[in-house]
Amino acid sequence: MAATSATTFSVRSTMPLGSKVSPISQPKAFGVRFNSKNCVKNFSGLKAATSGSCESDSSFLGKESSAALRDSCTPKAQKQYQRSWKNPQPQASYKVAVLGAAGGIGQPLALLIKMSPLVSNLRLYDIANVKGVAADLSHCNTPSQVLDFTGASELANCLKGVNVVVIPAGVPRKPGMTRDDLFNINANIVKTLVEAVADNCPDAFIHIISNPVNSTVPIAAEVLKQKGVYDPKKLFGVTTLDVVRANTFVAQKKNLKLIDVDVPVVGGHAGITILPLLSKTKPSVSFTDDEIHELTVRIQNAGTEVVEAKAGAGSATLSMAYAAARFVESSLRALDGDSDVYECCFIESDLTELPFFASRVKLGKKGVEAVISSDFQGLTEYEQKALEALKPELKSSIEKGIGFAQKQTVAA
Ligand SMILES: NC(=O)c1ccc[n+]([C@@H]2O[C@H](COP(=O)([O-])OP(=O)(O)OC[C@H]3O[C@@H](n4cnc5c(N)ncnc54)[C@H](O)[C@@H]3O)[C@@H](O)[C@H]2O)c1
Repeated sequence: MAATSATTFSVRSTMPLGSKVSPISQPKAFGVRFNSKNCVKNFSGLKAATSGSCESDSSFLGKESSAALRDSCTPKAQKQYQRSWKNPQPQASYKVAVLGAAGGIGQPLALLIKMSPLVSNLRLYDIANVKGVAADLSHCNTPSQVLDFTGASELANCLKGVNVVVIPAGVPRKPGMTRDDLFNINANIVKTLVEAVADNCPDAFIHIISNPVNSTVPIAAEVLKQKGVYDPKKLFGVTTLDVVRANTFVAQKKNLKLIDVDVPVVGGHAGITILPLLSKTKPSVSFTDDEIHELTVRIQNAGTEVVEAKAGAGSATLSMAYAAARFVESSLRALDGDSDVYECCFIESDLTELPFFASRVKLGKKGVEAVISSDFQGLTEYEQKALEALKPELKSSIEKGIGFAQKQTVAA
């Protein structure tokens, strides 16, 4: 098993003519790397990938990307782009829908997905203001077509034939609120949207971003069960932002190269239910007890850090869009046959006594292919205690979601 390489979004069409599109095998593309190059070393024990995209050091819209944006306007780049459109060979082409696409997360997420060479068709849905977002995005000279859908009457059309549905619809936190405070509004939104997914694209991968993820994923599962189309391997709570934050904070604290760092984050997606397994950090690094506690608490409260800094203007949007785009890209790579795709996410799980739990999983064409249980071997005493401590809160959030969904009648 080879290690996964970094995901690279291209800001121009870089696909070689006649070749199968894969960000892994692409020549050094200008763009965004979403994954750490170590993100599977923890359990595979194998060497990290050495593909071009993995070797290069890139940061979002850093030197390389700025150059790419500039270069994409040159006649040479345009010619190359036109040539790729004339290519008679089929290319990887997936349809992705973003529900809640006009929001703080939805807009930058749509932009990042528009940059993916794996996407042919990007469907943007919201209850309002999505036409302008789609018109704006459609001017970017990347291959995917952008379509907009407004309001419940257009939702079914938005979802037909879609491979990946991402749901960031809902209200975000304000200072003083917990994710659970969002429950009453977002529970209904997620229920309604997932009903439409069940009716129109039951085979799609479903990515739930709307909080509280610890409850909205169980709600989605119940809705899908009631509709008779539940596939637990294809329903994901997006916890990638916790991993992205953990990687960033650890790299800063230990003065490591960011792209090298990978920390699995397990449990759930709220407060103490977020458990970074710092002892499993790659590259292997030692922490003092104080560092472990400080980092764990910071990762758990990072969302609140942003909510307070935004002072009433919402919660994390840009970093969330980045994290969600990474998860979308990983899903598309898995759908496209890449056999080395690993991500942490909140899924139905038998890893613990709880019915849902976030852990690292291997993604494949049919969704979750394997849960990586080896991350739980040899936990430190601190992690073991934190694991036990998170269970009651996570259990109650899961039960709240299931209870809500079971009291509702799903729309026929
Ligand atoms: N999973 C995570 O790590 C994570 C991180 C940050 C935020 N979030 C959550 O993501 C959600 C969105 O956050 P945001 O900052 O983008 O909020 P936002 O208010 O900026 O955007 C939400 C969008 O959803 C739309 N919407 C509302 N009801 C809808 C419906 N029924 N159908 C379709 N669209 C609908 C709104 O019109 C709006 O455009 C919140 O619940 C927030 O808590 C999750």
